[in-house]
Amino acid sequence: MCGIVGYVGPRQAPAIILQGLKRLEYRGYDSAGIAALEENGRFAIRRDAGKLSNLETLLQSSPLEGHAGIGHTRWATHGKPNQRNAHPHLSMNGRVVIVHNGIVENFLELREELEAEGVTFASDTDTEVIVQMVERYIESGLEMETAVRQTLKQLRGANAVVIMGLDRPNELFCARLGNAGGIALGLGDNEMFLASDIPAILEHTRRMIFLENRQMAHLTPTSYRIMDLDGQTIPPDIHTIAWDPVSAAKGEFKHFMQKEIFEQPRSIVDTLRGRVDFENGRVHLPEMNLTPELAQRINKLYITACGTSFYSGLAGKFMIENLARIPTEVTYASEFRYYDPIIDEDTAVLAITQSGETADTLAASEQAKAEGATLWSIVNAFGSQSMRISHGYIPMQAGPEIGVASTKAFTTSLVDQYLLACALSDLRGTISRRKLRQLVDDLAQLPDLAGRVLDHDAEYEELANQFFKVHNFLYLGRGINYPIAREGALKLKEISYIHAEGYPAGEMKHGPIALIDETMPVIAIATKDHLYEKMISQIQQAKARGGTVIAVATEGDAAIANEADHVIYVPEAPPLLAPIINVIPLQLFSYHVAVRRGADVDQPRNLAKSVTVE
Ligand code: AGP
Repeated sequence: MCGIVGYVGPRQAPAIILQGLKRLEYRGYDSAGIAALEENGRFAIRRDAGKLSNLETLLQSSPLEGHAGIGHTRWATHGKPNQRNAHPHLSMNGRVVIVHNGIVENFLELREELEAEGVTFASDTDTEVIVQMVERYIESGLEMETAVRQTLKQLRGANAVVIMGLDRPNELFCARLGNAGGIALGLGDNEMFLASDIPAILEHTRRMIFLENRQMAHLTPTSYRIMDLDGQTIPPDIHTIAWDPVSAAKGEFKHFMQKEIFEQPRSIVDTLRGRVDFENGRVHLPEMNLTPELAQRINKLYITACGTSFYSGLAGKFMIENLARIPTEVTYASEFRYYDPIIDEDTAVLAITQSGETADTLAASEQAKAEGATLWSIVNAFGSQSMRISHGYIPMQAGPEIGVASTKAFTTSLVDQYLLACALSDLRGTISRRKLRQLVDDLAQLPDLAGRVLDHDAEYEELANQFFKVHNFLYLGRGINYPIAREGALKLKEISYIHAEGYPAGEMKHGPIALIDETMPVIAIATKDHLYEKMISQIQQAKARGGTVIAVATEGDAAIANEADHVIYVPEAPPLLAPIINVIPLQLFSYHVAVRRGADVDQPRNLAKSVTVE
């Protein structure tokens, strides 16, 4: 959840770290801070509650200098989000400083032990036990690296830390324990970087190493060493990242979310590139490691994910069952562990995750793998844990997604599931060659269709101007558009704080219809498909109860204007691809509502982009 950045090298560390933190603020914005080793050989810290802008102001009035430093943006777990609990945390005698992401589950017990030894604590955080323990070990005579390792071995829970000590000036130690979010090491020329996510350091280097569970690293300006917690050196696996730094910046857009919505035609193109053979009507997913034997053997699929990725899975189920004929169950990753899913070696589990580091999704994935399932994933963050633990994966190609509300990763993951359904059905022989060719041909028009929806942005803004004061919304859809109703409602909730429910339209009469009156607008996804007539009847039912209806309808459907109060027209898309198009106006509607309400679109309250705690 929290964001971490570190630097060691000839340049001024605070400026580089602040810049990196700006790219990570989506991970947490309760407080922020930077520590640097100053010329006088002491650590200096600047930190403040609230957003990064507060820290930036503080740094202007009270600058910080140094060639090694660490920084942090916080999503509070232990201790209030105030200045006292902001990271970095300094040890009692000022010899060690730390930034941390995760939860030290045994911190109470460790804190009691330290207090009994006379250590006084300056914060309410679980983090502080780590830095005090390292200092205690150093003062008892251990060398810094050993002190860090000794400390790490005693921590329970999922944690990522970066530590600096006066005994080893201009050096950084970092470690990853469990699934508290990754640490990417950036290898520069005579300088080293680290961060919890790639965009923070991408402008400096593309050569990166990702720490695995229970690995630590030691960085100096000119060297790096990866090791286990016993100090055994581990050969590095260096990746070259293809993302460009420009795509991680806001550019001409007011918000990252807006930029990312508008990037969707491009991210769809990137998703298709190299995977879809339009000439021969085939799909290639090399990283999935699919074989005809495996594809035919799988007789059950679980899709597991959280939030928006879960809704993507709900729509993906239609694609996979319809084409590949594999019975598919979609489960919340946060529940997966607790209901004893029936898994054997013929079961596949598909995890969908933008960040690749959502703790619940990783836990579900690890459990599935341990129980013998074939683990697949659709992941955006390259090199993330989810990608690394999977037997096969599809890299999303959405590019960096910074806005906390997920948009382009949603549509990209839908395209990926469509590709997976095509590849599986080809290998399983569940559809004809002709049908496969048609499915592949249909993809060619997708980027253009998405672009055509975006052209109508002004209309969605106008609609948002009319509805931004409303307190409740109901979103309805059927079939493959039911998950789109849920995703549309989630987008509105997250960024505008308006209560919204996404419902399968046919369920309305079993309860939610009681909510409908003139204060409760209904957004009904009623594009032309085999459920169109049924959606029209649902719209009529809502209208009969005094509801105001906004319909998402297919271009050319003049008749629907007689049923609904407002119509959002979208271009006609093939049925399995329609959700990708239908969700875009809902994303933009939510965006404009949030802007009109003056909400913080990219950093909605209480949320963080990567949820690395259970
Ligand atoms: C999306 O708008 C949300 N912020 C959230 O629901 C998100 O989709 C969820 O936390 C899952 O994240 P992941 O895809 O990175 O695993």
